[in-house]
Amino acid sequence: MLIYLLKGKSYFCDMAKSKTIFYCQSCGAQHSQWMGKCTRCGEWNTIAEEVVEKETKSYTWQKEIDKTPVLFNVLEIPSSGEQRIVTGNNELDRVLGGGLVQGSVSLLGGEPGIGKSTLLLQLALQLTHIRVLYVSGEESASQIRMRAERIGMQSEQCFILTETNVGKILQHAQRIKPDLMIIDSVQTLQSDYVESGPGSVSQIRESAMEMIKFAKKTQVPVILVGHITKEGVIAGPKILEHMVDVVLQFEGERNHLYRLLRAQKNRYGSTHELGIFEMVGEGLREVLNPSEVLISAKDSALSGNAVAATLEGIRPMLIEVQALVSTAVYGTPQRTTTGFDTKRLNMLLAVLEKRAGFQLASKDVFLNITGGIRVDDPAIDLAVVAAVLSSYENVALPDNACFAAEIGLSGEIRPVNRVEQRIHEAEKMGYDIIFVSKFNKIKTSNYNIRVETAGTVGDIFRLIF
Ligand code: TYD
Ligand code: MG
Repeated sequence: MLIYLLKGKSYFCDMAKSKTIFYCQSCGAQHSQWMGKCTRCGEWNTIAEEVVEKETKSYTWQKEIDKTPVLFNVLEIPSSGEQRIVTGNNELDRVLGGGLVQGSVSLLGGEPGIGKSTLLLQLALQLTHIRVLYVSGEESASQIRMRAERIGMQSEQCFILTETNVGKILQHAQRIKPDLMIIDSVQTLQSDYVESGPGSVSQIRESAMEMIKFAKKTQVPVILVGHITKEGVIAGPKILEHMVDVVLQFEGERNHLYRLLRAQKNRYGSTHELGIFEMVGEGLREVLNPSEVLISAKDSALSGNAVAATLEGIRPMLIEVQALVSTAVYGTPQRTTTGFDTKRLNMLLAVLEKRAGFQLASKDVFLNITGGIRVDDPAIDLAVVAAVLSSYENVALPDNACFAAEIGLSGEIRPVNRVEQRIHEAEKMGYDIIFVSKFNKIKTSNYNIRVETAGTVGDIFRLIF
C-alpha cells in the first residue's frame, strides 16, 4: 500500500544546485574547508559552514530599472551635486553632514536598547513632506504603533512593513515608491539567493548588497540598523562597513539619559561631528546646547568637582568631572572610573605623585564624568587633576572656573587643539576663568574671560589653591 502511494513520485525534491562555503563569522573571509582558526583574521572557532545557491538568478525587481548605462566617462557624469533630504533633526543632520544624501546607504549601529529603533521611527514620523517606508523584522506592527503613539505621530506618509524577505521588501518598495527606506535590522534580513539563516555572514552580505543596489538604482536613501557584538563592533562581516556609505554609531550608558551619535565613516561629510540626544518619555530629544545640561546645578561649591572645556569632534562641550580621593581600606588602593580611561587616571596620579609630591599611592581614587558620557579628549586631563587635588585637599575649586589642557609625563601642561573655541565656549557659558597651557599661542587679552596660563602641575596647584 505504502509502496503504491509512493510509486511514481520522485523522492528527491528538485533541489537547486547548491554549494557550501565556510565563512569566518568574524571577518567574513571565505574558506573551502573548515578550520579551527581563520587564516585571515587569526580568530579561533569562528568558521561556520553556510549554504549558498550556485545559480545566480536575475533579480526580478531590477529588470525594469536596469536600463541606465553604467559605463561613464568621468567628465560626462552629470554633476547633480549631492541632493540631500534635510531630516529636520538638527543633531542627525549635523552628523550626516547636512542631511541624507539621495541614493546613500547608512548603517546605524548600537547596543540593544540604546534607542536605534526609536531614533529612526521618530525620523520616519517627523518627515512629513516625504514618503517613508519603515521595515521592521524585529517588532510587530502593533508594537511599532504603540511606540509611534508615545513619540507622537505627525506624518501621514509613513508606511510600516513587517517583513524580512529582501525580495518582498523590495517589491513593496517598488509599489510604494518611498523617498526613504529604513530597515530595522540588517541582521533579520533574508535573501532568497542565500540559504544560510538570517544573521549569518553570507546572508547579511547578500541582503545588504541587494539593498545597496536598490539604493543606487532608485536613488532612494536607505538606512540599515546593525546590531553590535559584545566587543562593540557591528555584527556581521567587517566588509559591511566598507560597502555602505555612512556608518553611524549610537552610544551612551543605558542607565543615563544621554545618547551620542557619531559618524565612524561618512562619504559625504566629516566624521568629527557629534549629535547629542536625551532619552525622554516621548522618545529622543535633541540636545542643542550640551554644556547647559551636562553641568549639574548646585548651591554651594563642593570639593572634587571641576569643569573641563572639551571638544567632541569639533563641537565644544563643557563637562563636569567629579573625583573622590579617600584613604584606602585595603592594601591595594582602588581606582575606579566612569566615562574615563582608568589607565589614563593612573598615569595622571603617578605624575602628581612623582612630579608634584602628592601622596596618592595609598589613596582610593574614584572618578566620574557626569551624564554618562565617555570622553577621549586629552584636554580633560587638567580638569581631572584639578578635581583630584580638590578632593585630596578637601577644598572646593572656584565654581566659575574651567580647565582645558593635556598633562604630559613630566608634569608639564601641554597645549590642546582649538583652544580658542574652548575659551569661547567657556565665555559663552558664563565662566570667569579658564586655565590653559602657557604653551598655547594665544593672546589672553582677546577674550572677555580671564585666561590663566600654567606650565606645570605645580603652577596649577599654586594658582587654584
Ligand atoms: P529602542 O529604540 O527599542 O532600542 P534599540 O532599537 O536600539 O534596541 O529603545 C528602547 C529603549 O528606549 C527602551 O528601554 C525604552 C526607551 N524609551 C524611552 O525611554 N522613551 C521612549 O519614548 C521610547 C520610545 C523608548
Ligand atoms: Mg530596535
